[in-house]
Amino acid sequence: MHNDNFFINEIIRLRDQKKAVILAHNYQIAEIQDLADFVGDSLGLSQVAAKTESNLIVFCGVHFMAETASIISPDKKVLIPDLDAGCSLASSINAEQLAQWKSEHPEAVVVSYVNTSAEIKALSDYCITSSNAVKVVESIPKEKKILFLPDKFLGLYTQTVTGREMEIWDGACHVHEKIGENIFDDVKHTHPNAEFLIHPECGCSSSCMLKSQMYDDCKNIRIYSTEGMINRVNESDSDEFVIATEKGILHRLQKLAPEKKFYPASEEAECEYMKMITLENLYNCLLNEEFEVKVPHDIAEKARLPIQRMLEIV
Ligand code: 13P
Ligand code: SF4
Repeated sequence: MHNDNFFINEIIRLRDQKKAVILAHNYQIAEIQDLADFVGDSLGLSQVAAKTESNLIVFCGVHFMAETASIISPDKKVLIPDLDAGCSLASSINAEQLAQWKSEHPEAVVVSYVNTSAEIKALSDYCITSSNAVKVVESIPKEKKILFLPDKFLGLYTQTVTGREMEIWDGACHVHEKIGENIFDDVKHTHPNAEFLIHPECGCSSSCMLKSQMYDDCKNIRIYSTEGMINRVNESDSDEFVIATEKGILHRLQKLAPEKKFYPASEEAECEYMKMITLENLYNCLLNEEFEVKVPHDIAEKARLPIQRMLEIV
Protein backbone atom coordinates (compact mmCIF):
# COMPACT_ATOMS: atom_id res chain seq x y z
CA MET A 1 0.00 0.00 0.00
CA HIS A 2 1.62 3.28 -1.09
CA ASN A 3 0.85 6.74 0.26
CA ASP A 4 0.14 9.95 -1.72
CA ASN A 5 3.76 11.13 -1.51
CA PHE A 6 4.99 7.93 -3.16
CA PHE A 7 2.53 8.39 -6.06
CA ILE A 8 3.32 12.11 -6.45
CA ASN A 9 7.09 11.55 -6.54
CA GLU A 10 6.78 8.62 -8.94
CA ILE A 11 4.38 10.49 -11.25
CA ILE A 12 6.83 13.39 -11.48
CA ARG A 13 9.79 11.04 -12.05
CA LEU A 14 7.98 9.07 -14.79
CA ARG A 15 6.66 12.24 -16.44
CA ASP A 16 10.21 13.65 -16.65
CA GLN A 17 11.75 10.36 -17.74
CA LYS A 18 9.18 9.86 -20.52
CA LYS A 19 9.02 13.56 -21.43
CA ALA A 20 5.25 13.38 -21.05
CA VAL A 21 2.92 16.33 -20.55
CA ILE A 22 0.17 16.06 -17.91
CA LEU A 23 -2.98 18.07 -18.66
CA ALA A 24 -5.65 18.46 -15.97
CA HIS A 25 -9.13 19.91 -16.10
CA ASN A 26 -10.18 22.49 -13.47
CA TYR A 27 -12.41 19.83 -11.82
CA GLN A 28 -9.59 17.39 -11.04
CA ILE A 29 -8.65 16.61 -7.43
CA ALA A 30 -6.28 19.12 -5.80
CA GLU A 31 -3.24 16.79 -5.80
CA ILE A 32 -3.51 16.25 -9.56
CA GLN A 33 -4.02 19.94 -10.31
CA ASP A 34 -0.90 20.68 -8.25
CA LEU A 35 1.38 18.36 -10.19
CA ALA A 36 -0.05 18.91 -13.69
CA ASP A 37 1.90 20.83 -16.36
CA PHE A 38 -1.25 22.67 -17.35
CA VAL A 39 -4.64 23.10 -15.66
CA GLY A 40 -7.49 24.66 -17.59
CA ASP A 41 -10.91 24.51 -19.24
CA SER A 42 -11.88 22.40 -22.25
CA LEU A 43 -10.75 25.03 -24.73
CA GLY A 44 -7.42 25.72 -23.01
CA LEU A 45 -6.66 22.02 -22.71
CA SER A 46 -7.40 21.46 -26.43
CA GLN A 47 -5.17 24.40 -27.33
CA VAL A 48 -2.28 23.06 -25.27
CA ALA A 49 -2.80 19.55 -26.69
CA ALA A 50 -2.64 21.04 -30.21
CA LYS A 51 0.61 22.91 -29.51
CA THR A 52 2.64 20.66 -27.22
CA GLU A 53 5.88 19.24 -28.55
CA SER A 54 5.63 16.25 -26.24
CA ASN A 55 4.75 12.96 -27.93
CA LEU A 56 3.04 11.60 -24.84
CA ILE A 57 -0.05 13.41 -23.52
CA VAL A 58 -1.60 12.23 -20.27
CA PHE A 59 -5.11 13.59 -19.97
CA CYS A 60 -6.53 13.99 -16.48
CA GLY A 61 -10.10 14.75 -17.41
CA VAL A 62 -12.94 12.86 -19.07
CA HIS A 63 -12.94 10.69 -22.18
CA PHE A 64 -14.22 13.24 -24.75
CA MET A 65 -11.38 15.59 -23.77
CA ALA A 66 -8.72 12.93 -24.40
CA GLU A 67 -10.48 11.99 -27.65
CA THR A 68 -10.38 15.63 -28.80
CA ALA A 69 -6.62 15.75 -28.06
CA SER A 70 -6.10 12.54 -30.03
CA ILE A 71 -8.06 13.90 -33.02
CA ILE A 72 -6.00 17.10 -33.08
CA SER A 73 -2.69 15.27 -32.62
CA PRO A 74 -3.15 11.87 -34.30
CA ASP A 75 0.57 11.09 -34.27
CA LYS A 76 0.87 11.51 -30.51
CA LYS A 77 0.10 8.97 -27.84
CA VAL A 78 -2.82 10.21 -25.74
CA LEU A 79 -3.48 8.39 -22.46
CA ILE A 80 -6.30 8.58 -19.93
CA PRO A 81 -5.89 6.95 -16.49
CA ASP A 82 -9.44 5.49 -16.49
CA LEU A 83 -11.36 4.73 -19.69
CA ASP A 84 -14.65 4.81 -17.79
CA ALA A 85 -14.29 8.52 -17.02
CA GLY A 86 -17.27 9.50 -19.19
CA CYS A 87 -19.66 12.45 -19.24
CA SER A 88 -23.44 12.34 -18.76
CA LEU A 89 -23.83 15.27 -21.15
CA ALA A 90 -21.77 13.65 -23.92
CA SER A 91 -23.88 10.49 -23.50
CA SER A 92 -27.13 12.38 -24.04
CA ILE A 93 -26.93 12.08 -27.83
CA ASN A 94 -25.64 9.33 -30.14
CA ALA A 95 -24.72 9.34 -33.83
CA GLU A 96 -27.98 7.70 -34.91
CA GLN A 97 -30.05 10.34 -33.13
CA LEU A 98 -28.01 13.16 -34.63
CA ALA A 99 -28.26 11.70 -38.16
CA GLN A 100 -32.06 11.53 -37.73
CA TRP A 101 -32.22 15.13 -36.39
CA LYS A 102 -30.10 16.39 -39.29
CA SER A 103 -32.35 14.63 -41.81
CA GLU A 104 -35.33 16.54 -40.34
CA HIS A 105 -33.47 19.87 -40.84
CA PRO A 106 -31.27 19.38 -43.92
CA GLU A 107 -30.67 23.14 -44.32
CA ALA A 108 -29.33 23.66 -40.78
CA VAL A 109 -25.78 24.06 -39.50
CA VAL A 110 -24.82 21.68 -36.67
CA VAL A 111 -23.09 23.26 -33.68
CA SER A 112 -21.87 20.74 -31.10
CA TYR A 113 -20.50 21.36 -27.65
CA VAL A 114 -17.05 19.84 -27.18
CA ASN A 115 -18.69 17.56 -24.57
CA THR A 116 -19.62 15.04 -27.28
CA SER A 117 -18.16 11.82 -28.68
CA ALA A 118 -15.90 11.79 -31.75
CA GLU A 119 -18.78 10.29 -33.80
CA ILE A 120 -20.95 13.31 -32.99
CA LYS A 121 -18.15 15.73 -33.85
CA ALA A 122 -17.70 13.92 -37.17
CA LEU A 123 -21.34 14.76 -38.01
CA SER A 124 -21.00 18.41 -36.94
CA ASP A 125 -20.10 21.65 -38.73
CA TYR A 126 -18.74 23.51 -35.69
CA CYS A 127 -17.55 22.59 -32.23
CA ILE A 128 -17.77 25.04 -29.35
CA THR A 129 -16.81 25.19 -25.71
CA SER A 130 -18.54 27.17 -22.99
CA SER A 131 -15.96 29.94 -23.43
CA ASN A 132 -16.49 30.53 -27.17
CA ALA A 133 -20.10 29.35 -27.86
CA VAL A 134 -21.41 32.88 -28.44
CA LYS A 135 -18.53 33.91 -30.72
CA VAL A 136 -18.75 30.75 -32.83
CA VAL A 137 -22.52 31.11 -33.26
CA GLU A 138 -22.10 34.79 -34.18
CA SER A 139 -19.57 33.81 -36.87
CA ILE A 140 -22.20 31.67 -38.69
CA PRO A 141 -24.11 33.51 -41.47
CA LYS A 142 -27.28 35.05 -40.00
CA GLU A 143 -29.69 33.35 -42.41
CA LYS A 144 -28.56 29.87 -41.34
CA LYS A 145 -30.68 27.90 -38.91
CA ILE A 146 -28.66 26.18 -36.17
CA LEU A 147 -29.01 22.76 -34.58
CA PHE A 148 -27.37 23.19 -31.17
CA LEU A 149 -26.42 20.15 -29.09
CA PRO A 150 -26.40 18.54 -26.62
CA ASP A 151 -26.73 20.97 -23.67
CA LYS A 152 -30.12 22.68 -23.44
CA PHE A 153 -28.97 25.23 -20.84
CA LEU A 154 -25.88 26.33 -22.75
CA GLY A 155 -28.09 26.33 -25.89
CA LEU A 156 -30.75 28.51 -24.29
CA TYR A 157 -28.09 30.87 -22.93
CA THR A 158 -26.37 31.14 -26.36
CA GLN A 159 -29.72 31.67 -28.08
CA THR A 160 -30.65 34.40 -25.58
CA VAL A 161 -27.36 36.25 -26.11
CA THR A 162 -27.20 35.92 -29.91
CA GLY A 163 -30.92 36.03 -30.74
CA ARG A 164 -30.35 33.30 -33.37
CA GLU A 165 -32.87 30.81 -34.76
CA MET A 166 -31.95 27.53 -33.08
CA GLU A 167 -33.26 24.06 -32.45
CA ILE A 168 -31.79 22.89 -29.13
CA TRP A 169 -31.20 19.26 -28.13
CA ASP A 170 -32.76 18.26 -24.81
CA GLY A 171 -29.53 17.18 -23.07
CA ALA A 172 -28.00 18.26 -19.77
CA CYS A 173 -25.15 17.58 -17.39
CA HIS A 174 -26.40 15.80 -14.28
CA VAL A 175 -24.17 17.97 -12.04
CA HIS A 176 -24.96 21.40 -13.47
CA GLU A 177 -28.65 21.00 -14.21
CA LYS A 178 -29.31 20.64 -10.47
CA ILE A 179 -27.95 24.16 -9.91
CA GLY A 180 -31.32 25.64 -10.78
CA GLU A 181 -33.20 28.75 -9.71
CA ASN A 182 -34.05 27.45 -6.20
CA ILE A 183 -30.42 26.86 -5.31
CA PHE A 184 -29.45 30.17 -6.83
CA ASP A 185 -32.09 32.09 -4.85
CA ASP A 186 -31.04 30.39 -1.59
CA VAL A 187 -27.37 31.14 -2.08
CA LYS A 188 -28.07 34.72 -3.07
CA HIS A 189 -29.90 35.11 0.21
CA THR A 190 -27.00 33.59 2.24
CA HIS A 191 -24.23 35.58 0.51
CA PRO A 192 -25.87 38.86 -0.55
CA ASN A 193 -22.56 40.71 -1.06
CA ALA A 194 -20.77 38.08 -3.12
CA GLU A 195 -20.16 38.11 -6.85
CA PHE A 196 -21.90 35.19 -8.59
CA LEU A 197 -19.98 33.28 -11.25
CA ILE A 198 -22.24 30.86 -13.09
CA HIS A 199 -21.30 28.17 -15.61
CA PRO A 200 -23.62 28.25 -18.66
CA GLU A 201 -24.43 24.53 -18.20
CA CYS A 202 -26.26 25.36 -14.93
CA GLY A 203 -30.03 25.06 -14.86
CA CYS A 204 -30.23 28.73 -13.78
CA SER A 205 -27.86 30.20 -16.40
CA SER A 206 -30.28 31.91 -18.80
CA SER A 207 -32.61 33.15 -16.05
CA CYS A 208 -29.53 34.49 -14.18
CA MET A 209 -28.34 36.24 -17.30
CA LEU A 210 -31.72 37.89 -17.78
CA LYS A 211 -31.86 38.91 -14.10
CA SER A 212 -28.39 40.46 -14.36
CA GLN A 213 -29.66 42.65 -17.21
CA MET A 214 -32.97 43.57 -15.60
CA TYR A 215 -32.37 44.15 -11.88
CA ASP A 216 -29.86 46.40 -10.16
CA ASP A 217 -29.34 43.97 -7.27
CA CYS A 218 -28.38 41.27 -9.80
CA LYS A 219 -25.60 43.20 -11.53
CA ASN A 220 -23.06 41.03 -9.70
CA ILE A 221 -24.10 37.88 -11.62
CA ARG A 222 -21.82 36.78 -14.44
CA ILE A 223 -21.80 33.74 -16.75
CA TYR A 224 -18.42 32.13 -17.43
CA SER A 225 -16.67 28.95 -18.53
CA THR A 226 -14.40 27.53 -15.82
CA GLU A 227 -11.36 29.42 -17.15
CA GLY A 228 -13.47 32.56 -17.50
CA MET A 229 -14.14 32.28 -13.73
CA ILE A 230 -10.39 32.16 -13.05
CA ASN A 231 -9.83 35.27 -15.19
CA ARG A 232 -12.74 37.11 -13.58
CA VAL A 233 -11.42 36.50 -10.04
CA ASN A 234 -8.02 37.81 -11.18
CA GLU A 235 -9.48 41.10 -12.34
CA SER A 236 -12.34 41.63 -9.86
CA ASP A 237 -12.20 43.82 -6.73
CA SER A 238 -14.77 41.64 -4.94
CA ASP A 239 -13.74 39.77 -1.79
CA GLU A 240 -16.38 37.03 -1.96
CA PHE A 241 -17.58 34.80 -4.77
CA VAL A 242 -20.28 32.18 -5.15
CA ILE A 243 -19.13 29.61 -7.69
CA ALA A 244 -21.84 27.77 -9.60
CA THR A 245 -20.04 24.84 -11.19
CA GLU A 246 -18.24 21.63 -10.15
CA LYS A 247 -16.54 22.14 -6.77
CA GLY A 248 -13.07 21.04 -7.91
CA ILE A 249 -12.39 24.50 -9.32
CA LEU A 250 -12.45 26.01 -5.82
CA HIS A 251 -8.97 24.61 -5.18
CA ARG A 252 -7.52 26.58 -8.08
CA LEU A 253 -9.44 29.73 -7.16
CA GLN A 254 -8.36 29.58 -3.51
CA LYS A 255 -4.73 29.09 -4.56
CA LEU A 256 -4.98 32.01 -6.94
CA ALA A 257 -6.53 34.40 -4.41
CA PRO A 258 -5.97 33.08 -0.85
CA GLU A 259 -7.24 36.35 0.66
CA LYS A 260 -10.67 36.01 -1.02
CA LYS A 261 -13.61 33.83 -0.01
CA PHE A 262 -15.18 31.27 -2.35
CA TYR A 263 -18.45 29.45 -1.71
CA PRO A 264 -19.77 26.61 -3.89
CA ALA A 265 -23.34 27.27 -5.04
CA SER A 266 -23.99 23.63 -4.14
CA GLU A 267 -21.93 21.31 -1.93
CA GLU A 268 -23.30 18.46 -4.04
CA ALA A 269 -21.84 19.77 -7.31
CA GLU A 270 -19.25 17.05 -7.79
CA CYS A 271 -18.64 15.14 -11.03
CA GLU A 272 -17.93 11.50 -10.23
CA TYR A 273 -16.44 11.01 -13.71
CA MET A 274 -13.82 13.70 -13.18
CA LYS A 275 -13.07 12.22 -9.76
CA MET A 276 -12.34 8.78 -11.29
CA ILE A 277 -8.83 10.04 -12.00
CA THR A 278 -6.72 9.35 -8.90
CA LEU A 279 -3.04 9.56 -8.02
CA GLU A 280 -2.85 5.78 -8.16
CA ASN A 281 -4.36 5.33 -11.62
CA LEU A 282 -2.39 8.31 -12.93
CA TYR A 283 0.79 6.59 -11.70
CA ASN A 284 -0.21 3.30 -13.37
CA CYS A 285 -1.11 5.20 -16.53
CA LEU A 286 2.38 6.69 -16.80
CA LEU A 287 4.15 3.51 -15.72
CA ASN A 288 2.36 1.15 -18.15
CA GLU A 289 1.42 3.74 -20.80
CA GLU A 290 -2.23 2.77 -20.48
CA PHE A 291 -5.00 3.49 -21.52
CA GLU A 292 -4.49 4.86 -24.99
CA VAL A 293 -7.35 6.85 -26.54
CA LYS A 294 -7.44 6.41 -30.32
CA VAL A 295 -10.15 7.51 -32.72
CA PRO A 296 -10.72 5.50 -35.94
CA HIS A 297 -9.04 7.29 -38.87
CA ASP A 298 -12.21 8.03 -40.90
CA ILE A 299 -14.05 9.49 -37.88
CA ALA A 300 -11.01 11.52 -36.78
CA GLU A 301 -10.65 13.00 -40.28
CA LYS A 302 -14.26 14.22 -40.25
CA ALA A 303 -14.17 15.41 -36.62
CA ARG A 304 -11.01 17.50 -37.09
CA LEU A 305 -12.59 20.34 -39.10
CA PRO A 306 -15.25 21.37 -36.53
CA ILE A 307 -12.60 21.15 -33.79
CA GLN A 308 -10.21 23.33 -35.79
CA ARG A 309 -12.98 25.91 -36.22
CA MET A 310 -13.46 25.88 -32.45
CA LEU A 311 -9.75 26.46 -31.89
CA GLU A 312 -9.65 29.33 -34.38
CA ILE A 313 -12.54 31.34 -32.90
CA VAL A 314 -11.58 32.41 -29.39
P1 13P B 1 -15.36 24.13 -19.29
O1 13P B 1 -15.08 24.07 -20.73
O2 13P B 1 -15.97 25.41 -18.85
O3 13P B 1 -14.15 23.77 -18.49
O4 13P B 1 -16.47 23.03 -18.94
C1 13P B 1 -16.25 21.67 -19.16
C2 13P B 1 -17.22 20.83 -18.50
O5 13P B 1 -17.21 19.63 -18.59
C3 13P B 1 -18.24 21.49 -17.71
O6 13P B 1 -18.88 20.59 -16.96
FE1 SF4 C 1 -19.65 16.03 -18.12
FE2 SF4 C 1 -21.03 17.34 -16.28
FE3 SF4 C 1 -18.89 16.00 -15.56
FE4 SF4 C 1 -18.64 18.26 -17.01
S1 SF4 C 1 -19.42 18.06 -14.91
S2 SF4 C 1 -17.57 16.31 -17.36
S3 SF4 C 1 -20.45 18.11 -18.29
S4 SF4 C 1 -20.78 15.11 -16.40
